[in-house]
Amino acid sequence: MPLATTSASIQEIRKQFPVLGRTVNGKPLVYFDNAATTQKPLSVIQSLTDYYHNYNANIHRGIHTLAEEATRAYEATREKVRAFINASSAQEVIFVRGVTEGINLVASSYGRMVLKPNDEVIISALEHHSNIVPWQLVSASKRVPG
Ligand SMILES: Cc1ncc(COP(=O)(O)O)c(C=O)c1O
Repeated sequence: MPLATTSASIQEIRKQFPVLGRTVNGKPLVYFDNAATTQKPLSVIQSLTDYYHNYNANIHRGIHTLAEEATRAYEATREKVRAFINASSAQEVIFVRGVTEGINLVASSYGRMVLKPNDEVIISALEHHSNIVPWQLVSASKRVPG
């Protein structure tokens, strides 16, 4: 379903992001640097606070209560993301720390598997280096024209 973008709904969405309550240079903050760092809505900030207050343990590593609770919460999130993006399996949902790590993973697994010598990797002229370097590396390893 497309997002409604009436002025009222935009104000409702803005209210979910505490930082957007700030003014910068005398004007309500408008933030566009989402590729670098995305601002967090209150529900995310509260979840992080809840995690540090109540779990704060490594996932998939410990057998104590906190580690097991943290692991369950983490895996429940993977399932929520799976349902949200309509993936057929939670195993298709892989959490990464950022764009660079995600594209490196795709290039070094899928890219390395499918690219053959003399294939061409085409990217736009506007790409951030996080979507250039991983392809250059896999191209060099296959001697694919970069
Ligand atoms: C436009 C753009 N794309 C990609 C990235 C890379 O993001 P990450 O730090 O998540 O690897 C950045 C980081 O600043 C960016 O500004």
